[in-house]
Amino acid sequence: MEIEAVGYGTFRTPAGVARQAVADAIKVGYRHIDTAAVYENETEVGQGIKDSGVARKDLFVTSKLWNTERGYDKTKAAFQASLDRLDMDYLDLYLIHWPANTRQFGDQAESLNAETWRALEDLYNEGKIRAIGVSNFMPHHVEALMKTARIKPMVDQIEVHPGWTHATEIKALQAMDILVEGWAPLGGQGATVLTNPTMIEIGEKHGKSSAQVALRWSLQQGVLPLPKSTHIERMKQNADIFDFELSDAEMATISALKDLGGQSVDPDEVDY
Ligand code: A2P
Repeated sequence: MEIEAVGYGTFRTPAGVARQAVADAIKVGYRHIDTAAVYENETEVGQGIKDSGVARKDLFVTSKLWNTERGYDKTKAAFQASLDRLDMDYLDLYLIHWPANTRQFGDQAESLNAETWRALEDLYNEGKIRAIGVSNFMPHHVEALMKTARIKPMVDQIEVHPGWTHATEIKALQAMDILVEGWAPLGGQGATVLTNPTMIEIGEKHGKSSAQVALRWSLQQGVLPLPKSTHIERMKQNADIFDFELSDAEMATISALKDLGGQSVDPDEVDY
């Protein structure tokens, strides 16, 4: 699997702007687009992809299964519905959006995840999905899944940003040879990552913005960030992170930052 190292995220990109935003993102150079059924913008994301004029085969498109659709048959139907909305005949990557957790599903959680995963494996074997993975699965959810999985998840997309680092989990997932993607890499809604004085100061040393520092910090840990912006200048800025390097000391300083807000979700503590 080849995957572009910075993806374009579309969480909270309303349907009304997603078509133009995705077309713009592809025009400025993004080739990896991340959406999800629950974002309610798959139709417009698909239209934006067509408007861009870039061939489908040259793009990497991800979507995700929403939580109400868990289970073998429902997963297969939900996947097809996503494909229909995107107006495509395959996806590059499809993820289980959230693990069923024991808080909500008790001792049924594990078998529900296993059945959902079995549907993804079959869709993969049928050639309808080029790579399959999970999202918001902590290492213990992956380990539980591996009891029955025939195919190991290839990707795990989790929340990663300064202030919500998941350093231990990232290392554990990478040790399992799973590619970690980061959602809300700039902190997401309500976060102060971009206005944090330390982030700004480190950026100034490199002639970069705090956003570029946050994305570079992800990348240097081997985490593929999925920044979202509806502004062309910011889209360009967020992809322009390959000409500088944070020192070990800077990486450690950023990793130690606390209380930067954002969603900071614990997947075992939410009823999703
Ligand atoms: P906008 O879409 O108006 O540019 P995340 O990817 O962590 O969820 O955060 C995205 C948020 O950060 C969005 O609100 C986005 O707003 C904003 N944003 C994205 N890129 C930048 C940037 N380079 N500088 C400042 N804000 C940015």
